[in-house]
Amino acid sequence: MREQLLFFDKLYFNFYKALKSEEGKEIISITDGLLNFDKINEVNEDIQIVDISSLSGLDRLQYNAELVFPKFPLNTIFIADKEHKKLFEHELRYCFEDFVDIDLIEDIDVEYNDVENTVKSKKLNHRKIIDLDSDEIEDFVSSFKNQIYGHQKFKDDFTELIRNFRVFNKLGEHKILSLFLMGDSGVGKTEVARAIHKSLGGKKKLAKINFGNYSSDNSLNSLIGSPRGYIGSEGGELFIRVKDSDIGIILIDEFEKSNSTLFNYFLDVLESGKMVSSIAEEIDLNGFIIIFTSNINKDEFPKRISPELRSRFDYKGYFMPLFHSHKEKFTEFRIKNIIEKFNKNFDFELPENIANDILNRINVSNYKNMRDLNKKIKDTFVKSVMELLAKNNE
Ligand SMILES: Nc1ncnc2c1ncn2[C@@H]1O[C@H](COP(=O)(O)OP(=O)(O)OP(=O)(O)O)[C@@H](O)[C@H]1O
Ligand SMILES: [Mg+2]
Repeated sequence: MREQLLFFDKLYFNFYKALKSEEGKEIISITDGLLNFDKINEVNEDIQIVDISSLSGLDRLQYNAELVFPKFPLNTIFIADKEHKKLFEHELRYCFEDFVDIDLIEDIDVEYNDVENTVKSKKLNHRKIIDLDSDEIEDFVSSFKNQIYGHQKFKDDFTELIRNFRVFNKLGEHKILSLFLMGDSGVGKTEVARAIHKSLGGKKKLAKINFGNYSSDNSLNSLIGSPRGYIGSEGGELFIRVKDSDIGIILIDEFEKSNSTLFNYFLDVLESGKMVSSIAEEIDLNGFIIIFTSNINKDEFPKRISPELRSRFDYKGYFMPLFHSHKEKFTEFRIKNIIEKFNKNFDFELPENIANDILNRINVSNYKNMRDLNKKIKDTFVKSVMELLAKNNE
């Protein structure tokens, strides 16, 4: 078995190649070796990296791979296009111990979507906002506020909300704190849930459900499990997610995409403070925060969401695009993060003024969606470093 197969993002392949070339390494394709096994013996593990992406088109991949890989020198580094990750993870499971993404640039928008890969923990022990003492609440609030740029009114409202929630929850009068956040794409709705999760010290995955995947008629089965005897009765996604998380927060994205069955289910959850699976398993959600997000605008809100449900949300907020100054702060912070990450991974020395150079190359006014802005920041960073590498090689 080989230690690991590394996956690259096609977008940043040239960047990776240039950085490796700076380290004196070249990337070769496995294709030549497949045509002529002698070529494989000639591979120099110290200066060559083997790109195996082309194997994805191979017949009887598992069989052939097990013939080919042992012929390479012991410490050969193998890489592949991330596009084929699922395929290689499966077909090459007896060739590599580990499948790892090359982390060139830290990514902010981490989404978790693989239900299969979750670990089922038995004991439920979520850290909740109601568990914090008053000092911890102060820390929580300042950490949360630091992570979200702009939206000052919301941040103040939220601080007030959790203070009240803690009091009324103790009195037994308020079981779940529910927030409904609307607004354009990429302005920080989902980020609010991530920031709460992080500020409460979350180590495991945030319990997140995307209702965009739940628009069909039998969607309730996928969400809370189907009745005993049917396939999938082990528990639906909601139960798996909540059990697999260590923090008392649930994020429901694209809430409006779902149907009335699911709306009613959540109406019940908010009312009773617990969720019940199809096989009558109960999870107590007392003290939890549930965040619902949606791209609908203010006018659509009353049309799409029933009055019963509307009145059940503790807070309804509309997120406007960020102000110029907040976008600049976001950009500065991101550049700093990317540079830190880069310095940790590569020996190549960046010039001191690189952060400012990058900042000057980006016009934040062109961006409303922070996801797009982030992409621009990453691309500008890559471009700047590529230029430096080219200059070095002149
Ligand atoms: N106000 C903000 N503060 C900090 N980061 C933000 C903010 N807005 C956006 N971001 C960054 O941009 C990325 C996208 O934001 P987010 O996922 O919260 O978008 P969203 O509002 O949920 O959009 P969508 O409706 O498309 O889901 C986040 O990963 C985050 O890093
Ligand atoms: Mg979102």
